[in-house]
Amino acid sequence: MFVRTPGRLDLRQPGVSAVFDKSYPDFVAFLGQHNTPPGAFRTVDEWVSMAWIDSNSYLLDLACSTGWSGRTTHELTGASVHGIDISADSVGQARGYAEDNPAFSYQVADAADLPLADNSFTHVLGGCNFGFIEQRERALDEVHRVLRPGGLLCVSAFYYRKRPPAHLLDQVADAIGFRTDAGRDRRFWVEFFSRKFELVDEVLHDTPSLGPRRVTRTVRKSVYGRVPALASVSRPVRDACFHRLRETRLVLDEHRSFQRLMVGVWRAKP
Ligand SMILES: C[S@@+](CC[C@H](N)C(=O)[O-])C[C@H]1O[C@@H](n2cnc3c(N)ncnc32)[C@H](O)[C@@H]1O
Repeated sequence: MFVRTPGRLDLRQPGVSAVFDKSYPDFVAFLGQHNTPPGAFRTVDEWVSMAWIDSNSYLLDLACSTGWSGRTTHELTGASVHGIDISADSVGQARGYAEDNPAFSYQVADAADLPLADNSFTHVLGGCNFGFIEQRERALDEVHRVLRPGGLLCVSAFYYRKRPPAHLLDQVADAIGFRTDAGRDRRFWVEFFSRKFELVDEVLHDTPSLGPRRVTRTVRKSVYGRVPALASVSRPVRDACFHRLRETRLVLDEHRSFQRLMVGVWRAKP
């Protein structure tokens, strides 16, 4: 259960403790929020221009979660998209959002063992994936295999610009259920992708902290605003969601100041 400072919340109220029992991805889905690649719309926009994605492109949305990256790229370009994720729930949601549009298909699959033919795709979208995939070296081999010769891998990845204190890494692990590796600096990712790909183009972004006031304002809006996913939940459950999301975002906001973001496009080596 993730609850650092329960404050005045009454955990015995119906549904309240369940808010804290959910995994972080399930909690985010409960709030009706989408997983987006780091940098969200700006990132997709940069991928489209750096990787010349157009209506003839066939994209693999790798570890697609609820499919936001692929859908947004399609909206900008008309490209066709096949999404895979290891989570059946996420794939189910992605299918729902695609609303039978024939430009989209989805399947539950492991990125390290893709049930897809060689040379199938012009592009792979890899937003914040390789940090989460356990067998990331094998996943990179698979991405290379399913791309056409000279195909492009679109990447958006946080990297550390300085090492965060151990207590902050513990708080992040507690908040999102995933321990980040502070050794993953820019060199780490460049060496990782360079094994199979060469860099075509890249933008590096600062990821400044918002500070507690702005974090609180944003969280308040996403819990107490008009949120269709929360329309039927009680006030105590909304309060619990506000509390958990704010605690999580405050930790992530502090953590962000130790990172930067690389958004880039890499071409498959022969
Ligand atoms: C941060 S999200 C990815 C966000 C998404 N790529 C985007 O651009 O919005 C990480 C995703 O990786 C998925 N995942 C983790 N390990 C995986 C694997 N071995 N194969 C496929 N998906 C995996 C998780 O289920 C989760 O949906």
